[in-house]
Amino acid sequence: MTGRTRPRARLTGVASYVPERVLTNAELEKMVDTTDEWIRERTGISERHIAADDQATSDLALAAAQALLRSTRTSAADIDLLIIATTTPDHIFPPTATLVADQLGATSAAALDINAVCSGFVYGLAHATGMVESGLARKVMVIGAETLSRIVDWNDRSTCVLFADGAGAALIEADDEGEPGSGVIGFELGADGSGKDILCIPAGGSRRPARSEGVEPADLCIQMAGREVFRFATRIMVESATRLLQEAGLTTDDVDLLVAHQANMRILQHAAEKLEIPPDKVVINIDRFGNTSSASIPIALAEAVERGNVSPGDLLLMVGFGAGLTWGAALVRWEPRA
Ligand code: ACO
Repeated sequence: MTGRTRPRARLTGVASYVPERVLTNAELEKMVDTTDEWIRERTGISERHIAADDQATSDLALAAAQALLRSTRTSAADIDLLIIATTTPDHIFPPTATLVADQLGATSAAALDINAVCSGFVYGLAHATGMVESGLARKVMVIGAETLSRIVDWNDRSTCVLFADGAGAALIEADDEGEPGSGVIGFELGADGSGKDILCIPAGGSRRPARSEGVEPADLCIQMAGREVFRFATRIMVESATRLLQEAGLTTDDVDLLVAHQANMRILQHAAEKLEIPPDKVVINIDRFGNTSSASIPIALAEAVERGNVSPGDLLLMVGFGAGLTWGAALVRWEPRA
């Protein structure tokens, strides 16, 4: 007798939310020594969304989660597991995911946060897939949500022009009839902690608590060696995607859409060129949203779906990278519920 005894994980829905407030490059020109031209040329960003004073990460995540339930006609009570990938939780504890599950009415859901920084959404999808394919969960919501505006040093022109706020949510469901090659196809995940210092928040954790002597406000904010992160990003996106495609027996010709972390337009273009993926198959929305870390891939995917740029059965290549250093690539078919 042959056949699968375990369900296959399927990506059946995606939705996003960004706060109303738009911060333009012209406004940044008044805050730090920068120009609209420099920001657009070096990063591709024109504007970004910033959370209102009374909005925390869970508020953005909740709005994305509610939109996802509406678009997939799913009841909150049917969610078995809610994972939030975030580097800006509402609190150190409780987890932001428990707050969102409560507000959502996901009363049967286990809930936890994961932190793999900008790779967090891809890591979250991998965890969801593992839980579904092992039979431990049938419906998993994975949310990437960030309020990076709260951990940006607004006096540091090399970082404050990049980061922004937003949330994106995806639904991973069990499919008992899934054929090989359908659903979630695979992942390539990695980490290299030796790169911990090129992108970090130096204080505020257990090694250097916020209240310890000598901690300056800037030590509680993102600090980045931009050029080194750039070099890492351009290398790892191509390597991770290539390894995953090889493992899956596929090539970039099979890919219908590259949905990569929106960190810098030049990084995206470099990766697409090296992978030989034509521009019309690359989702780019960094110009309007900036770098929203773990939220950037699901926000980009939700927009592509909304614009009709993704068809059922399309093969999506998602690639993220970030502090840690971490990275992750995913090959997933877009299979919304009929
Ligand atoms: N406006 C004007 N000038 C600026 C600005 C600014 N906003 N920021 C930096 N500069 C200056 C620098 O001071 C430097 O001046 P100098 O030559 O007199 O020293 C000059 O511009 C060039 O600086 P570089 O850092 O070499 O500029 P680069 O072309 O590398 O662009 C950038 C900088 C945009 C940060 C780029 O390196 C980058 O995008 N790196 C990757 C960042 C990234 O992806 N981070 C997120 C990872 S995801 C996560 O985990 C959160």
